[in-house]
Amino acid sequence: MSDKKKKVVFSGMRPTGPLHLGHMAGALQNWIRLQDEYDCYYSIVTWHGFSSEYQNPQVIRNFAYEYAAGWLSVGLDPNKSVIFVQSEVKEHAELHLLLSMIIPLPWLQRVPTFKEMQREVTDKDLNTYGFLGYPVLQTADIILYKGNAVPVGEDQAYHLELAREITRRFNRLYGEIFPEPQILLTEVPKLAGTDGRKMSNSLHNAIYLTDPPDEIRKKISPMVTDTRRKRKTDPGVPEDCPVFTLHKAFVEKEKREELAKGCRTAGIGCLECKNVLIEKLIETLTPLQEKRREFDKKPQKVWDTIEEGNRKARETAQKTMEEVREAIGL
Ligand code: TRP
Ligand code: SF4
Repeated sequence: MSDKKKKVVFSGMRPTGPLHLGHMAGALQNWIRLQDEYDCYYSIVTWHGFSSEYQNPQVIRNFAYEYAAGWLSVGLDPNKSVIFVQSEVKEHAELHLLLSMIIPLPWLQRVPTFKEMQREVTDKDLNTYGFLGYPVLQTADIILYKGNAVPVGEDQAYHLELAREITRRFNRLYGEIFPEPQILLTEVPKLAGTDGRKMSNSLHNAIYLTDPPDEIRKKISPMVTDTRRKRKTDPGVPEDCPVFTLHKAFVEKEKREELAKGCRTAGIGCLECKNVLIEKLIETLTPLQEKRREFDKKPQKVWDTIEEGNRKARETAQKTMEEVREAIGL
């Protein structure tokens, strides 16, 4: 499997809530595309999850299964990609520790997401040492596998810049061990959730990959659209419509443009426009849900796949850490 000429891709997802359309359009579809061109490592980053869910850690283990089963159902292929659980590969912790010694504190204190989370998350205390070190652990994740490229959305761009900076510093101090990871910026369509705000688990506005057809209908039908369209005869602007963010991610271009035109000219009603989306989502999710049910009948198979991924990841990680220990001399 590990064709040595291939470059390495690493990405991770925090298992802190069920998989929804945002995960699919924002990351998974892209991860799947990268599988043939790169050696891919995709990690369920349990320790990153723990950094914010430390008061309620049992959710993380439950979602580890959820994520693996979900990823496999969507089309990640364990024969092409290493699918594994971060906290099962202890080398992440060792490298994180070593990196933490060489990173000047201000590099972390100025991270915008850190400040933002302090401000926005009020139901838990994230003013911790570990949470400050979140990007350090993220860097360790990537370079442990000598990752060349990291597919992430815009929201992670700063973390990746920092990862590159940390990597350069390490290499300068101890020798050129790690490639500087490139950002593969994913065009992440900003998906609106059922309330029009960004789709996310914490806002409870998500459409889940496991939602049955009725639930999808129930969630999309009442969604607010472009407010200009009070009546069917009022033309609208699709770019100002939260529902249309979902069209952009899931409805084929041709059909979508036809709907957009209908919207601008008041040729179609919102209900009709939503129905196209609803049917498309059902069509997209139904086969995934069938696959998922098959996995759930034999959950041990999913755990075995994770175990196998953990083993492969460990093998690479151990090799890297031998080099690192040798370079540092400890
Ligand atoms: N921080 C990422 C997020 O919140 C998750 C993540 C952890 C990650 N380690 C990573 C992403 C390594 C890319 C590479 O989405
Ligand atoms: Fe949104 Fe479609 Fe209604 Fe236009 S017609 S406002 S794109 S739901």
